[in-house]
Amino acid sequence: MTAIWRVDSEIFQKNVQQVKNGQPLMAVVKNNAYNYGLSFAVEQFWEAGIRCFSTTSLSEAVKIRQLSPTATIFLMNPSRDFETLRKYDIHMTLPSLSFYYENKAALSGVKVHLEYENLLHRSGFKTLDEMLEVLEDHQANTKSKMIITGLWTHFGYADEFDVSDYEDERAAWIEIVDTLLKQGYQFEMIHAQNSASFMREGQIFSHHTHARVGIALYGSRPYSSLSRTSISQALTVQANVIQVRTVQAGQHCGYSFAYTAEKDNTKLAVVDIGYGDGVLRTRAQHDVLIHQKRYPIRALMMSHMFVEIDDNVQPQDVVTLYNEDLRIDDYTFKGVGANSEQLSALNLDSLTKEYQ
Ligand SMILES: Cc1ncc(COP(=O)(O)O)c(C=O)c1O
Repeated sequence: MTAIWRVDSEIFQKNVQQVKNGQPLMAVVKNNAYNYGLSFAVEQFWEAGIRCFSTTSLSEAVKIRQLSPTATIFLMNPSRDFETLRKYDIHMTLPSLSFYYENKAALSGVKVHLEYENLLHRSGFKTLDEMLEVLEDHQANTKSKMIITGLWTHFGYADEFDVSDYEDERAAWIEIVDTLLKQGYQFEMIHAQNSASFMREGQIFSHHTHARVGIALYGSRPYSSLSRTSISQALTVQANVIQVRTVQAGQHCGYSFAYTAEKDNTKLAVVDIGYGDGVLRTRAQHDVLIHQKRYPIRALMMSHMFVEIDDNVQPQDVVTLYNEDLRIDDYTFKGVGANSEQLSALNLDSLTKEYQ
């Protein structure tokens, strides 16, 4: 018996179609498609009509090209491997003025999307003037040069509702897009919205060609006021009871006195999953499901957990950590890391990986 990580392909596909809702999406497939598996995800997204993919790693971008010869691929991090970008027809971010001037000649033939920094401050041009400087310099350049195919930004606050930062970053971005378009610049692709922005707006912004969506396609709600039915989780994580132990009041269990039994004849299930399999430590503050009943986790170790049980639980019983009832996003909203943090942590080398 080993703990399993299982994805129901039918639920996954239905969720993608529901989230997509007929709108043009760029699917974010970085970090091995949020750990769902790059080839599985690209295949599923393609089936749902998505033709555009983005990632942060050049090697993943090349793999997408191998999986999908006609897809549009966008690399969100800058790379200086311009030969590979050209060879595999990968569009890339243009992340700053200095990157442009340092690599102006070498960028020849590379397709780039001008990135606006906005409030996240992770990457991108700081001002409209910097973007105009590049556009004008590029227009005046008569030598062999890069190809400007897109314009983009990333919102850092779209899942925040109690502050005005999303409205601020949104307004700043729309102003950039409107000004550049009014000045006659044209872009094959314009994209900004992540899952939270796309879901809260209910559509893509005007003049934009794509919403650049990740977590919603993988079955987690980006913010808690979304209804459970708007997004479905296809992932189940289950482990097994390998032994049942009985301890007495005052006895300590787990490393460093992790749990102290409060009453005599406390029954603990030893379960074959732990933080080495990627269960976040904060997840242990909540329950698991055995035979449709919730039981509390008492200690989390590398390859094991203690769960306090009753007489209805036996060795070999199945213990569910995540499924459609115990959703990753339910725990995210309780403070167990971010959705993508739990998804990416799950260790697919130690869990048995299954697609149904
Ligand atoms: C640049 C960029 N765009 C889009 C996304 C997708 O965000 P989400 O998974 O919230 O939809 C991410 C994810 O972190 C990102 O870094």
